[in-house]
Amino acid sequence: MKVFRYKKELKNYIESLKNQGKSIGFVPTMGALHQGHLALVKNSLKDNDKTVVSIFVNPTQFDNPDDLKKYPRTFKTDMSLLKELSPEIIIFYPDAEDFYDGKIQSEHFDFDGLENEMEGKHRPGHFDGVGTVVKKLFEVVQPDKAYFGEKDFQQLQIIKKLVEKHHLPIKIIPIPIYREPDGLAMSSRNRRLTQHHRAAAPFIYQVLKQSAVLFEKENIDTIKKFVENTIDAHAYLKLEYFEIADEQTLKPATQKITGNKYRGFIVVYAGEIRLIDNIELISK
Ligand code: PAJ
Repeated sequence: MKVFRYKKELKNYIESLKNQGKSIGFVPTMGALHQGHLALVKNSLKDNDKTVVSIFVNPTQFDNPDDLKKYPRTFKTDMSLLKELSPEIIIFYPDAEDFYDGKIQSEHFDFDGLENEMEGKHRPGHFDGVGTVVKKLFEVVQPDKAYFGEKDFQQLQIIKKLVEKHHLPIKIIPIPIYREPDGLAMSSRNRRLTQHHRAAAPFIYQVLKQSAVLFEKENIDTIKKFVENTIDAHAYLKLEYFEIADEQTLKPATQKITGNKYRGFIVVYAGEIRLIDNIELISK
């Protein structure tokens, strides 16, 4: 299995693959890989001649230093999981100093307002950090296609905007949310949940599904109040926000407009762990 730590070496290798006419698929991750990540990788393996997976806990996108420190790092297990899928996968495991040329800081981005909603409000600087790292990764890997999960729906829309605004010749492929059998969206952070909080966490998706049923007939205000009250009543969960927003603009919706697509976006703390999820809302 090929593992690269330095961007120049990977860039040279990619260039040699491109000269041989190989197509490149790319899956950026922060490691602690689970089946959700692997769903992205499997799609890339199917669509492209070569697949690059990056594993990098990017310091510039963490607004909370404690979250950065405690973010799970399981490189050896990650490597074996990828090797099981295909020994042909190319791993990029950047050295932070080399990757950031010694200046670990974010560039500032204008994503036409997408960056100011929801996660942007609650995690200052987060999307500048994501934009910075993904743009740099794209420069090194130069993929034909890149895979992003709908679990981080706002991030997915922001990456599409990044590609559009910078005229990058990359096709962004969205992948549906991969869940545990009990409905909890898979996340690297799930392994940090205490037993009680892990048992409580599937409630988040149950409430999201109820909100989708309500969306068929109720107005937006009623649904928001229902979610707020239901999560608030749970002893082990604390709501940070629930928002119903337009899929394209991510602006909060106050009423349903025919032809527009909506999603419910939720962030809940289960103890110290911040969990994020979302669901498509269809009005009948
Ligand atoms: P990370 O949280 O490791 O996620 C990597 C990719 O896997 C993202 O596109 C994310 O949406 C997707 N993913 C995570 N859990 C998923 C699930 N349960 N189902 C489907 N897809 C899932 O997102 C990041 O890392 C970083 O911000 C990154 C883009 C790598 C930039 O640092």
